[in-house]
Amino acid sequence: MKIPELNSIKSIERQYETGERPVLVTCSDKNAYICKYMRSSASAYKLASEFIGANMISYWNIRSPKFAFVKIEPAHWANINTSHTSAVALGYIMLEKVADINNVTIQNVKKNARILEQLLKIALFDFWIANEDRTYNNANLLYDLDKEELVSIDYGGIFNTSTYDYSLTQLTSTDTILYADIMRHLADGLDRSKILERAASLKGFLLESTDKCRENRNQIIDSIPIGWNIPKQNISKKVDELFQSHWIDEVWNNFMECLNDNI
Ligand SMILES: Nc1ncnc2c1ncn2[C@@H]1O[C@H](COP(=O)(O)OP(=O)(O)O)[C@@H](O)[C@H]1O
Ligand SMILES: [Mg+2]
Repeated sequence: MKIPELNSIKSIERQYETGERPVLVTCSDKNAYICKYMRSSASAYKLASEFIGANMISYWNIRSPKFAFVKIEPAHWANINTSHTSAVALGYIMLEKVADINNVTIQNVKKNARILEQLLKIALFDFWIANEDRTYNNANLLYDLDKEELVSIDYGGIFNTSTYDYSLTQLTSTDTILYADIMRHLADGLDRSKILERAASLKGFLLESTDKCRENRNQIIDSIPIGWNIPKQNISKKVDELFQSHWIDEVWNNFMECLNDNI
């Protein structure tokens, strides 16, 4: 997958208040992008995680915004009081008619089998990639009000929130979106055994999706910008843990157990 390379064409329009303080910029393709950027000259592991997560999920048949590399012109930072470097940023195309999923907007989410399946797939992806940043008080999900579908965002917390120094560990049953109100909302009125049955049928999906990611492993790692300052071997080592068969087996068992605990 060739990742588009864009330039900002205007001053930053907005800075979000969330953890990474992303910025909104209009780019050379005339679209607006929500950009995450290198916030110090130290190695940008969190940005690399963001990039790896965004790439990997594109092989999972889960909706996630399209992304591009964005060169934000130095002059376009003028109104923004934040530390940043000149390294290329990672921008997600800004989606229209979407709502952040939280305790209030959850009421807009239709309850049906299709959306429940989207949530189960997103939860399974998180178990596989050890995403600790999609939880009961921070869904990192958008809801597309027209298409009535969930959109996954924000991968800065994969690999157990970016410590590349330790081996991957399994999420706990309260670290997952399965523990959140959105799961209760979608499960409401459904037979528990039906939900478990639907989840159990995703085993093949896990294996196929991780196979596709494995096939694309090299090109993902090779696309990480050199300016982000991360030794390639550290990234390779971390990414390869995802493909160990014992990890995938444990992910599957843990996913089914945590679902069982939470419904
Ligand atoms: N592609 C997008 N389209 C529309 N809004 C988005 C998009 N990506 C992020 N946002 C908005 O920006 C906020 C912060 O994005 P997020 O990736 O979660 O950043 P952080 O890592 O700082 O938590 C989201 O809660 C959402 O409101
Ligand atoms: Mg977030």
